[in-house]
Parts: sequence; structure tokens; C-alpha cells
Amino acid sequence: MILVEVVSNPTLRVADMGAIADIAKRHNVLLVVDNTFTTPASYRPFDHGADIVLHSVTKLLAGHSDVTLGYVASKDPDIQKPIYDAAVTWGMTPSPYECWLAERGLHSFGLRFERAQQNASALADHLAGLTGVAQVYYPGRADHPDHNRARAVLGDNPGNMLSFRLNGGREAANAFTKAAPHIPFAPTLGDVGTTLSHPASSSHRALSEQDRQKLGITQGFFRVSVGIEDIDQLKSEFAAAVKASAV
Ligand SMILES: Cc1ncc(COP(=O)(O)O)c(C=O)c1O
Repeated sequence: MILVEVVSNPTLRVADMGAIADIAKRHNVLLVVDNTFTTPASYRPFDHGADIVLHSVTKLLAGHSDVTLGYVASKDPDIQKPIYDAAVTWGMTPSPYECWLAERGLHSFGLRFERAQQNASALADHLAGLTGVAQVYYPGRADHPDHNRARAVLGDNPGNMLSFRLNGGREAANAFTKAAPHIPFAPTLGDVGTTLSHPASSSHRALSEQDRQKLGITQGFFRVSVGIEDIDQLKSEFAAAVKASAV
């Protein structure tokens, strides 16, 4: 099988989904799409040749960081049946309370996602204009290496995730997080509140420094899951923290 995320973590590169679907078809292998970052609002994998779709419901779909849940779905009964059997046999069935929490979150998903991505776009532009920020990674920006592909694959929905790289290294990163007390430092994403993660010391800590450098993941690199707060509040908090990082 081919397992692909539409938008990669944490540099937010956009996969050439059409070409990948063609390769899967040509070689008669299953195409599995993890749609967690993109959500059905940005991308509908079954419409583009996916055999199986995965979601971490924990993230944007439930949206409140209070439930750990995921789903895996296929339209083909020959694939869905063994997935169902495995889930039931191995006890991977969620509790009613988790399902209730997720459903409660889903009611506001459309509103949350719309607002969060508006905020992400505005915050990305704001960060790009700050002294102290070396680079901003947001598929909705014209300077993103996959901007044209993002338009083709995601349309008007580049999402709520952005990353940026400070000019400085680890000391600058430490100063940044200390100066941003209202932006929780958390490896999860998709909450109503903005959260910050530091890939070099968390998700990508297993890579060598050299491999991280190749990906552009420096010690001053942060990933931001943008929430639904007041945008002016977000801009001022990030501006103050970037300023503190440059000292
Ligand atoms: C893209 C993606 N897929 C799947 C997962 C796994 O989700 P969960 O923590 O709900 O098991 C994550 C978690 O970070 C994720 O970011």
C-alpha cells in the first residue's frame, strides 16, 4: 500500500495527490490517505482515488483536546469488513462518552475550521513581516514551494497549520516560548486554542541534526496549530515573543 498525508508535518509540503493515485492504480496497490491535517473541508480522498481514509478525530474534527479517537474507513466492503473485525476483536472500540464528545465537537467543525484558517492566513502574513523570523511555511502563501499545488489540491482551504523558523537557534526558541505564555506548548493540534510544537525536540527528535537541517527543521523551527482566538491578540502575542527571541 501507499500511505500518504496530503500535507506533511511540519514543513507543510503538499503531496502530488493525482500522481500518487495514478502510481497506486498502475501498480494495483491500495492508496491510504491520512486526512487529519486537511479534513474533509479541504480534501475528500475518496473523490480522488483513495481506497482507505484515516483521521485522527482527536484533532480538528473533535476540536477540544478532550477526546482520543480516530477512524479508518473504506467504501469497499472487502476492505471495511476486516478492519471492522480487527477493531472489534482487538478491543479498539471507543467508549460512548468519547463518541459523544466527538459528535459535540463535529457540530461546530465548519465554523471552527473556517475561522482557524482565516487566522492562520493572517498570522502567517504577520509573521513573515517580523524581523527575527527567517521563514514562514504556509501553503496559502505565494512564497510556499507548493503554493500552486496547494491551490489545485486544497482549493481555498489551505488549513489552520503553519510553521515558521526564527533567525536564532535553541536559545531563541526558548526565549520565544517563555515570552508566549498564552500559547500552550503541546505536540497535539486542532484545538480551538492555538498551540505550539517544537519538532526538533519532539516529533523529529529521532532524526540526526544533519537530517533535520536537510528538512529545514532547525532548533528555531516551530509548528503552530492556529485556533479561533481574536486575531489581533494572536498577532500581538506572537510579535512580542519573536521580539523576545531576538534579544
Ligand atoms: C497526521 C496525523 N495522523 C494521525 C495521528 C494520530 O492521532 P491520535 O493521536 O488521535 O492517535 C496524528 C497525531 O498527531 C497526526 O498528526
